[in-house]
Amino acid sequence: MALNELQRRVLRLKEEKNAILLAHNYQVPEIQVIADHLGDSLELCIEAQRAEDADMIVFCGVDFMAETAAILNPGKKVVIPSQKACCPMAAMLPMSRLIEAKKRHPGAPVVLYVNTLAEAKAEATVTCTSANADRIVRRLDTDTVIFGPDRNLAYFVGKRVPGVEIIPVPEDGHCNVHRFIGDGDEAMELKKRYPGSEVWAHPECEPAFQDRADYVLSTGGMVRRARESGAEVFIVGTELGLIDRLDRENPGKTFLPAKRFAECGAMKRITLEGLYAALVNEEPVVTVQEDVASRARQAIERMLELSV
Ligand code: 13P
Ligand code: SF4
Repeated sequence: MALNELQRRVLRLKEEKNAILLAHNYQVPEIQVIADHLGDSLELCIEAQRAEDADMIVFCGVDFMAETAAILNPGKKVVIPSQKACCPMAAMLPMSRLIEAKKRHPGAPVVLYVNTLAEAKAEATVTCTSANADRIVRRLDTDTVIFGPDRNLAYFVGKRVPGVEIIPVPEDGHCNVHRFIGDGDEAMELKKRYPGSEVWAHPECEPAFQDRADYVLSTGGMVRRARESGAEVFIVGTELGLIDRLDRENPGKTFLPAKRFAECGAMKRITLEGLYAALVNEEPVVTVQEDVASRARQAIERMLELSV
């Protein structure tokens, strides 16, 4: 795909400023194709940690992702093209509930999804993503964990790691986009129409859909499964932006949304025009208070150690 004038300007400016461009799989395709690294939350955490040589990180994703990059790179300029790109799930964990759960279950490790704000991460034993949550909980070698904020990811972990009691905090943390996909009825109708197709659900999807899907995968897991599978048609239970990537990387295979219109408004706040302006102005800058960042950093670094 030939690049347009604005994409070329972004690339030139990025080079001049020695900036690195990290983009999540749900970003619009014009941004996906010019990113230095396009990936899921875990892959982007790893790339953010490796970004020592860059003078600036431009993060095309939502608030908690850019915050994580800032936490992992104290002193480096991290810019997010829109301050309105805020993941509603990340705001669903009130600190009071977390502190209360810690008091009620003294000694239980606190495993928090990276889809949380820095203040919450600072209270965590370890963070996790949808790609490594089961592995992290298994490796903690404990019989109880406090887990938040995604109730559906907690369900996924509970199924994969039997014998561990998962205490969800809050009770009903969820992602609206994946909840909108529902119980997977549309996906199952499509599967009947395309025999031999695979149904994928993201772990943020409702338990009923997870139970009916052929695979429950993070967005990075879906990217890998698309390459490896011999199937020709895939019914994709996650945000629509991932389908742009899957189509581009797998010519000849067909990717259908498990639910039409499952779009994340927060992710779509980031536009190519906004990205260009952010590079020109080097703002908005993402900042995290160092006392909070240093405690959150320990939880994120522990995740990165435990997930290899
Ligand atoms: P992934 O880590 O699977 O990309 O998921 C991030 C996310 O926010 C899903 O809604
Ligand atoms: Fe947050 Fe859901 Fe959007 Fe992911 S898809 S960034 S969890 S609102």
